[in-house]
Parts: sequence; C-alpha cells; structure tokens
Amino acid sequence: MSITAPTGEVHDQVPHHETKRTEYNLVQVKGTWTRKNRKTLRKNENERVSSAKIHECSEGRGTTWTVVSPIVFTYQVIQTQNLLDPSNDALLTGHIRDPQQLELLRGSHKPLKRFVVMDETVFKLYGCQVTDYFESRDVLYRILPLPTTEEKKSMEMVMMMLNEVHKFGIDRRTEPIIAIGGGVCLDIVGLAASLYRRRTPYIRVPTSLLSYIDASVGAKNGVNFANCKNKLGSYIPPAAALLDRSFIQTLPRRHISNGMAEMLKMALMKHKGLFELLEEQGRFLLDSRFQSNNVDLTSAAAVTTRVAIETMLEELAPNLWEDDLDRLVDFGHLISPALEMEVLPALLHGEAVNIDMAFMVYVAHERGLVTEDEKLRIVDCMLGLELPVWHRGFTLALVQRALRERLRHSGGLVRMPLPTGLGCAEIFNDTDDETLCHAYERWCDELGPGLSS
Ligand SMILES: NC(=O)c1ccc[n+]([C@@H]2O[C@H](COP(=O)([O-])OP(=O)(O)OC[C@H]3O[C@@H](n4cnc5c(N)ncnc54)[C@H](O)[C@@H]3O)[C@@H](O)[C@H]2O)c1
Ligand SMILES: [Zn+2]
Repeated sequence: MSITAPTGEVHDQVPHHETKRTEYNLVQVKGTWTRKNRKTLRKNENERVSSAKIHECSEGRGTTWTVVSPIVFTYQVIQTQNLLDPSNDALLTGHIRDPQQLELLRGSHKPLKRFVVMDETVFKLYGCQVTDYFESRDVLYRILPLPTTEEKKSMEMVMMMLNEVHKFGIDRRTEPIIAIGGGVCLDIVGLAASLYRRRTPYIRVPTSLLSYIDASVGAKNGVNFANCKNKLGSYIPPAAALLDRSFIQTLPRRHISNGMAEMLKMALMKHKGLFELLEEQGRFLLDSRFQSNNVDLTSAAAVTTRVAIETMLEELAPNLWEDDLDRLVDFGHLISPALEMEVLPALLHGEAVNIDMAFMVYVAHERGLVTEDEKLRIVDCMLGLELPVWHRGFTLALVQRALRERLRHSGGLVRMPLPTGLGCAEIFNDTDDETLCHAYERWCDELGPGLSS
C-alpha cells in the first residue's frame, strides 16, 4: 500500500516490524524549500542546496526526524588604533564583511543608529570622546553608562539595560549594540544582546587588559546567578571585537597585573616564548601600561598581546561551544571560580586564577611534571607580575569541593590541565587525593602566610 506525502513524493507505508531510513537534503527552488532524497540528488544551477539535512526514520510506531542544521559563526577580532577618532570607521562599520553591504550603507541617507553601553568609570574617562565620535558621524545614539561591577553582574542589570534598548528601538539586523568597558560590561551586554529578539548583534570594545586578551575574543557571555560565577549565559560571539590598546593607559596597575594572569595562563599552557617575554619584560609592561609606539609591531606590548590572542583563538575557535570538555584554557579555572565568589570583592578574576595556577604548578611539581627550577621560575614570574600566589581562602576543603563539583559537570572526569614543562601542558584525570594534599602542604609552606596574602 502507498500514501502520498505532503511533499508530493510517494512513500511506502512501513510494516510494523521494519525500519525505513531516508536521508534528505534540502533544496530551494523559487523560494520554496523541499526535501530531496540524498541518493537521487543532482546538481542544478537554479537550485540552492542547504548544508542542513533531515534524516527520517520510519517504523511501525511512527516517524522520527533528525534535523542536522549546521550553524556557522563568523566574527572578527580587529586590532585597531585610535578607535575613537572620528576618521576611524571601525566602530560603525568594522563588523561588516560584505563589501556590497558596506557600499549600500555608505550610499544610504538614513542615519545610523547605535545603542552604546559603557562601564561607568570608562564613561567618566572616555564618555566625551565617544559622544564626539557619534556626533561628528551624525549617528542617532544613546549612551547608557552602567555600574558594571562583579557584584552587580546579574540578570537585573541585563533587564535594566534591555528596557532602555527597547525604549530606544533598534533594528535587530543592522544596528548592533556596542559595549565599551571591562569584561563585566562586555559579558552583561553580550548576554542582553543574545536575548533581545533572540539574537541581536553586538560589538565588544574592551578597555581592560583582561577583556582585551580574553573576555573579548571568544563567544561566551553571562552573569552571576545563585552566588555562582557566570551561571547564566550563552555562547553567542560578538559581530566584532574592536581592540585598541590605548585604553589600557588609564587602567589601574592592579588591573593590568590582573589581565597578565590570563596571558600567563596561555604562556604556561602553550607558548614558552610568551612565558620568557613575561619573565623578562613583565615589569616593563606593567610600568609602561602596554603602551608603545603603535607602528612598532615588535614591541613587547604588541607581541605579548598578539600571541596571547592567537593562542587563545587557537583553543577557542575549534571549540566555540565548549563541547569538548578537555580544555587547556581551563587552567587556573578549576578552583578559582569558587574562591572568587567566596571572597568577592577581595580578589579580581585574574588574581583568583593566578592563585589557582600557582597551586596547580605545585600539583604538577608533585607529580614530577615540572622540575623544581621550572616551578620556581613560574612563581618568580607571577610575583614579578605583582600577582598573588597564595590566599587563605583557598583551603584544601575548597579544593576538594571544587574538584568534586567539576567531576559532576565534566562527564565524570576531572580534566585537570597541568603544565608538563614551560609552555606545554596536558590534561590529567588521575591526580589522587594524596598528591593534592602533599602539593597543598608544600604550597602553603613555601608561599603561604608571610610571603603573600
Ligand atoms: N566572556 C569571557 O570569555 C570571559 C573571559 C574572561 C573573563 N570574563 C569575565 O570578565 C570579568 C573580568 O573582567 P575585567 O577584569 O575587565 O573586570 P571589570 O569589567 O570589572 O573591569 C575592571 C575595572 O577596571 C575599570 N576599567 C576598565 N577599563 C578601564 C580603563 N580603560 N581605564 C580605567 N579603568 C578601567 C572598570 O571600571 C573596573 O573597575 C569577569 O566577570 C569574568 O568573568 C569573561
Ligand atoms: Zn578567566
């Protein structure tokens, strides 16, 4: 017996005991998408074939459709200079890759419209420049300065911001929301934009070192929830991240060290050259606030930031949604989130990460993965970057609790990245409790109270 399916194709009715599987491609002719059996698909110039597929499996009880719909994210990380100079187009059109779209925009008489969220402190420093930029480019704009602190990194802030976006009104396709500030501001705005009309494009302009090399370049955004770090969030990358190192000149020294912790993480995990640069030039970079002659691409500031971003992108791009749980970028992030939230606001993110990394270096040493000399070099480098290497809140109980949590959320394996030398690392699942305890004792003996707080 046969019946006619809505697509016009004739299907055999499947007897109770049999299973029939068909793989369909999706082909568009004159605006209508239709399924076409993959086996009989022939190329036709007038047809558009989607990369999506529908697998159909029919059996006596009914039919199951498995939809395979690949979604590609393309976004740009752009290093630029003088971002707020009205002659620089990046802030308005840097995210547009299609030359035709750019041409259309340039020819249009419709004024551009932008909603801008700025960290309050950054607004005090750069608000006038941002205003001047939009004024001189005849943009319809609204700047919303927000107190985007770690303690206020919450859904309430997202909702408050979205109310203002809604009042202002933006075209979800062509008017990206711009976030200018540190990682907290970028994370809040990223989440808000991902929620507004299901996905509104947004642009990140990082103004802290940490957000320049880390929070800007990936897809993650989020806010704290139920006293847990970044518990609510999404993996929607920005349309573009626009990086201008000159913002760092007003960043307090402690926050520069803070950003260097994430840089050191990449160095320890995968780039010996970067580690050596931080060892030798760390102090200079702190003193000079990462400012250098912009044309000089060989300056320590230019090289360290570029390598940090490149190594980060290498790890993030193939794993944008973190489906692969074995992640080197998690180094320093196994125990630190619990510590950071527990002592908030005493430790900055990078500081908590550094304390975690310092402890893990002792674990690596206890396991014979790094030598005594390498361990000392790493700790010296951390101290040179003016980062804390120990904290009283980082108790053995906290370590054990955080690792148990990690086991629950990481598919039953602890997936602990550990250095196996300088600039190389592996993921380990077999660090026993005894090793942890010995490493902890040694870490406290050598770096504990008295040496750092
Ligand atoms: N999305 C991600 O992938 C990702 C990655 C790493 C960190 N993060 C998040 O980023 C946050 C930490 O980022 P952060 O260290 O930038 O913190 P932050 O946003 O709190 O900024 C640090 C401080 O510096 C000030 N500031 C920023 N830019 C300045 C400037 N140019 N001049 C003077 N002051 C300036 C801010 O007002 C703030 O007081 C954390 O919430 C963390 O979870 C996210
Ligand atoms: Zn981090």
